[in-house]
Amino acid sequence: MIERGRRSRPFYVPVSTEVAVFEAAYRQGLSILLKGPTGCGKTRFVEAMAHDLDRPLITVSCHDDLTTADLVGRYLLRGGETEWVDGPLTRAVREGAICYLDEVVEARQDTTVVLHPLADHRRRLPIERLGVTVDAAAGFGLVVSYNPGYQSVLKDLKDSTRQRMVAIEFGYPAAHVEEGIVVAEAGVSAVYAADLVRLAQAIRRLETGGLREVASTRVLIAAARLTTEGLSPRVAARAAIAGPLTDDPVVSRGLVEMIDIYLPEFLA
Ligand SMILES: Nc1ncnc2c1ncn2[C@@H]1O[C@H](COP(=O)(O)OP(=O)(O)O)[C@@H](O)[C@H]1O
Ligand SMILES: [Mg+2]
Repeated sequence: MIERGRRSRPFYVPVSTEVAVFEAAYRQGLSILLKGPTGCGKTRFVEAMAHDLDRPLITVSCHDDLTTADLVGRYLLRGGETEWVDGPLTRAVREGAICYLDEVVEARQDTTVVLHPLADHRRRLPIERLGVTVDAAAGFGLVVSYNPGYQSVLKDLKDSTRQRMVAIEFGYPAAHVEEGIVVAEAGVSAVYAADLVRLAQAIRRLETGGLREVASTRVLIAAARLTTEGLSPRVAARAAIAGPLTDDPVVSRGLVEMIDIYLPEFLA
C-alpha cells in the first residue's frame, strides 16, 4: 500500500502544463486533484514530481474498505500492550511528505472528515482517537486522483472537497509523445510504437462503445513488452489490449479486426 520515492528520476514525459501547475500548487500549499482515465500517467507523474521536489512520497491505493483508521492510524496490540501506530496519512503529515491517495473516490465517505481540514488552508489532521490535531509539517502535500469515467454518482467526489483543490486533467498524450513513451518503456522500435499508437487512437475514437475503458498508454506498453519476448504484434495486442478491455465476444471480435488492420503480422 505504501511506496517510497525512488532515487533516480522516474521516467515521465510532460504532456501539457501539468508540471508547472503541480509545482505552483504544491508551493502554495494547495491540494491537488488529478483527473483522468486509467493508465494515462497519473501515478508516474506524482512519482516524478515528488522526486523533483525532493519530498518523500507515500502512496495509498484506495479501495472501498479503506477507512479513516487505515489512513490516520489505530491502536494495535503489541506484546500485550496497546500501542498507537500512525497510518500513512498521519506519517505524511508529520514528516512533510507528499501523500498520494490513488483512486480516492473508492475510499469510504467517512474519510472525507479528515481530508477536508487537511485539504483546505487549515492543513491540519484531526486524530480523533488520540484527541489531538496535528498541523501538517512544512513540505506536506496532498494529492488525490480519480477516474471521472466511472460514472458513479454516489462515489463521485463531493463538491466541497473538489473546491478545495487545484485540478490537473490528464488525457492521452499526443501521438509523437506517446510513441516516445512506448519506445522508452518497452524498448521497441519507433515504427512499431507508432503502429500501436495509431491502433490505440482508433480504439479511443470508438468512444467506449461496449468497452469498460479505452486503450491506455499502459496497455500499449504491455503489448510492446510482450513482443520483446518473441510474441508477434497481433498476438501480443490480443493478449494485452483486446483481452483486458472487454469480455464481450462481439466487441472483442471488433477489436481483433482493428488489431489486424493496424499491426503487422511480424515485426520487421
Ligand atoms: N507521460 C508519461 N511519461 C512516461 N510514462 C508514462 C506517461 N504516461 C503513461 N506512462 C506509462 O504508462 C504507465 C501507466 O501510467 P500510470 O502512471 O500507472 O497511470 P495511472 O496512474 O494514470 O493509471 C506507466 O507505468 C508508464 O509506463
Ligand atoms: Mg495510478
